[in-house]
Formats: sequence, C-alpha cells, structure tokens
Amino acid sequence: MPKIKVFSGRANITLAQKICDKLGIELGKASIQDFADGEIKIKIEENVRGIDVFVVQPTLPPAENLLELLLMIDALKRASAERITAVIPYYGYARQDRKDEPRVPISAKLIADLIVTAGALRVLTVDLHAEQIQGFFNIPVDHLYATPVLVDYFSKSDLSNLSVVAPDTGRANRARGFAKRLGDNIPIAVIDKRRPGPNEAEVVTVIGDVAGKDLLIFDDIIDTGNTLIAAAKALKSHGAKKIIACATHPVFSKNSVSKLEASSITEVTVTDTILLAPEKQSKKITVLSVAGLLAEAISRIHKGESVSSLFI
Ligand code: R5P
Repeated sequence: MPKIKVFSGRANITLAQKICDKLGIELGKASIQDFADGEIKIKIEENVRGIDVFVVQPTLPPAENLLELLLMIDALKRASAERITAVIPYYGYARQDRKDEPRVPISAKLIADLIVTAGALRVLTVDLHAEQIQGFFNIPVDHLYATPVLVDYFSKSDLSNLSVVAPDTGRANRARGFAKRLGDNIPIAVIDKRRPGPNEAEVVTVIGDVAGKDLLIFDDIIDTGNTLIAAAKALKSHGAKKIIACATHPVFSKNSVSKLEASSITEVTVTDTILLAPEKQSKKITVLSVAGLLAEAISRIHKGESVSSLFI
C-alpha cells in the first residue's frame, strides 16, 4: 500500500497540524511564499512519488486560498503522487449553485471543475452548503457533517427545555436530524426567512412553539451574522427564554462578531473548519475541532475502508 502524507496550504495550518497529530504523522513539508506582486510560489519539499497524498485547505476568501489549493495539487501531480485528495473543510463559492436567474454563474460547479482539472482524484469535505454540489465533481466526494462533534458537545448540557431551530426552511431536515441525535423528543422550530438582498435577512414567520423555551439555532455558515441576529430578534419577540446558536463554518465577515456580541444570543458554537483570526475571538464563541473526524476519514480512505459510519 502506498504511504500516506498530509500537506497544508496556508489557510488553516493549525487544523492540518491537528489532523497529523491524530494520525501520528509529520505534516508534509512544502514552501509557500508570495512573490512581490502577490502571486503564490509553491515547492513541495519532500518526495511524494507513489504516495497517497491529502492536501488540507479551506477555500474561503480571499480567492488566493483556492488558487493555493490548485497550485499545490498541480505541484503534487507533477511530482508523481499516486493519488491526491483535496481535503476542503470549508468549500467556498458554494452559494451560487444553480442558474436560478438569467446571466448568473454556477460558481460551485466552476470551482469543482478547477479542482478536478488541477489533478485531485478525491475530495473530502464538511457540511457543503448544498448537498447537490457533490454531483458537480466527476470524482468521489466524501461529504462529512460536523454533527457528531456538535452532538457530543451539546449532549453534555441541560436539554430538558430545549428546541432546535432551523434558521431557514432549507435547513429544516438537517435540524430535525440534529435534534433527533441530541435526544428523544427534542422538538424543532423553523424560521421562514427571506433575503431582500445579498447578505440581508428578514424573518417572515416562526413556525413552531418557542415561548418559554431554550433555543439552539442550528446553521451551516455564519457569514455576516444577519441570519442569526434576525432569527434571535424574532424568537425573542415570540417569548424565547434563552437563545444559543451553532454553525459549522465561522466565516465571520466584517463586524459580524461584534454584532453577535451585542445580540441576545448568549453562546455561539462553531468548528475549526475555518481558522478564527485573533480579532474574531470572543468570550461568546466556542470553537470545537473537526480534526478527529477528518483524521478518521483520511485514515479510512487511505486504507480503503468504509467511511459511511462517519456520515451522520
Ligand atoms: C443560508 O443561506 C445559510 O445556511 C446561512 O444561513 C447563511 O449563509 C448565513 O449567512 P449570514 O450570516 O450572512 O446571514
């Protein structure tokens, strides 16, 4: 069996290092630098001929993160790696995933094409914004959910008065599954959200009984925080007792963290698919690691074992 090596782009070396620690291997050596004009220069600093290689890089903005992943894959391919798996803990450019109005790109498909063209033979990712993005790749995609990590964390708290809230109707199924895994008879509520413009969020209706309840809003991404803040306002006005929130991907753009700090949400739990910059850290924010989940998946993919038990 070919040997395994894990390399990392610069977007989340901390996560890549944690994955390597779990696997009991050294992080692969690569030099990644910027030319004076900002272009990226890459060199893989160790032999990868005949090796099963995994490259960890979330593709959040800036677009250089995506480009860095593509360049690393290209370098590894030209260095004769046996198989290259793109490990993309957060798959960016996922929100335009269909042509639902004239003259728009299907960005998520274009990004998939770029990754395959660069030379990836598999993709391992976490909580895609939409499940159908898997089908944009003509190579195998292992799509994990952060649910086991979140369930493990929240099941240690008092769940006696808890309801799980889906912040939009598209999230209702996942919220139902999450509530079921948290415990028997945990109800869900669903918010009917509208987007009057990009990044704007407006609550039309709250479906379900939330008065006097402790509520856990369950989302995939926190970007501007507007979805959570609009949800929290509506839930409070419907009599919610306590509101906490969780999401897999802490994009946290612009002043989202200070807006969340000023909101009635008392705790926000996220994962480390995206590295939290020091200025985005807050007492309200708890970060859980998906390193164990990804390391387990990498190990099973390498050994040709089933990963389906991780897909919950
Ligand atoms: C739905 O569009 C997504 O699941 C998230 O709710 C959304 O991306 C969060 O974005 P923001 O924090 O900007 O409202």
